[in-house]
Amino acid sequence: MKNIFRTKPIESLLEEASGKESLQKVLGSFELTMLGIGAIIGTGIFVLTGLAAANYFGPALVISFILAGLACGFAALCYAEIAAMVPVAGSAYTYGYAALGEFWAWIIGWDLILEYAFAVGTVAIGWSGYFNNILMDLGINLPKAITKAPFEGGVVNLPAVLILLVITAILIVGVKESATANNVIVGIKLAVIILFIILGVGHVNPANWHPFMPYGWKGVFSGASIIFFAYIGFDAVSTAAEEVKNPQKDLPRGIIASLIICTVLYIVVSAILTGMVPYLKFKETAAPVAFALQQVGITWGSALVAVGAICGLTSVLLVMMFGQTRVLFAMSRDGLLPKVFGHVDSKFHTPLRSTLLVGIVTMIIAGFTPIAVVSELTNIGTLAAFVIVSASVIVLRKREPDRPRTFKVPFSPVTPILSMAACIFLIINLQGVTLIRFAVWLVFGLVLYFVYGYKNSAINEE
Ligand code: ALA
Repeated sequence: MKNIFRTKPIESLLEEASGKESLQKVLGSFELTMLGIGAIIGTGIFVLTGLAAANYFGPALVISFILAGLACGFAALCYAEIAAMVPVAGSAYTYGYAALGEFWAWIIGWDLILEYAFAVGTVAIGWSGYFNNILMDLGINLPKAITKAPFEGGVVNLPAVLILLVITAILIVGVKESATANNVIVGIKLAVIILFIILGVGHVNPANWHPFMPYGWKGVFSGASIIFFAYIGFDAVSTAAEEVKNPQKDLPRGIIASLIICTVLYIVVSAILTGMVPYLKFKETAAPVAFALQQVGITWGSALVAVGAICGLTSVLLVMMFGQTRVLFAMSRDGLLPKVFGHVDSKFHTPLRSTLLVGIVTMIIAGFTPIAVVSELTNIGTLAAFVIVSASVIVLRKREPDRPRTFKVPFSPVTPILSMAACIFLIINLQGVTLIRFAVWLVFGLVLYFVYGYKNSAINEE
């Protein structure tokens, strides 16, 4: 049983990455930053801010964004150190394997599967909502049967399924093409956000910022653990490690740059948003950014923002699904999941089969399930992964102090400890029911590990 804590030497991780079934190296720090922004800015800012502002934090939305951003900042530094040291697909999962052993690696991989699958499902449903809004503005009303899940009075959420079909196809065709598509989409998304800032800032009425904290600190803390969703994605940068040209430099740059850019934008956008419209009004909308512009009479701006949001959500889907396949790839290469997830197609040089499988599973989730409730599950899965990555930094510094580190977390072990504390704090501020669901997910994962992964682990053969 002691075996379950067997670790994977960093040397063998690096060797595998340069082996036969490895991926093409085509990404630089610019692509990585764009990949990060592509994954980060999405449902959080475009959808969740409004309802959460109305129900949790009011104008103190800014504070919640700063708190969640701080937690992510600490975690990002930890990610940057290990990603540059162990630039292998699989991200936090792989770091956990090297530092804490197979058991924790499995748990973390299992968390990441939860994070990505539910994030992809949730975002696809959000995408479908925005898409329908735009169609309605154009006078086209799709029947409920093909825009809602069965439990919401429909048959299938077809736009959500179709967008996932497109994303799956793009990812199969290739990473370089995916990165180019991502750059264009992220450009549009950033342009739209800057447009919002320029249009909105003149319509800020400071009276709307009072009361600043209508639900007290409790609201701000719960709000922070919900709005944390908006930051998820910088970790996906590290899942692309094996496809990076110069990972030692590019990975820390990509991770940190994308997080800083998004944090600044979030703080500015949230301050303007709550200054433009009294916070309670956001109860009425699932598209707060476009809604705020509409409220101050800039209808054309509102329409443009809606189109930009669609682009934003698309790139989140692209990177999240990409991240999902890379984690599965790494887990399969280690024997913890069946071989099919680790197969690289000889024509496209991408993990075709696992991309297809992930595509189908997320299409089923997005098409047939109303998963508003489980978006919190994405947060808890991610936060748990952040805790383990931060712990890994401390363990690896002790165990392998001489290994070259091109990027070092400043003030270790204080920063990694702060990162763990902040993430645990956000976890306990989530709803109790989320914690229970997460526990069920973990138990299910453990059963799978002992029935399959433990026996088939590649380490056994070695
Ligand atoms: N951070 C991503 C979003 O807001 C997951 O959609």
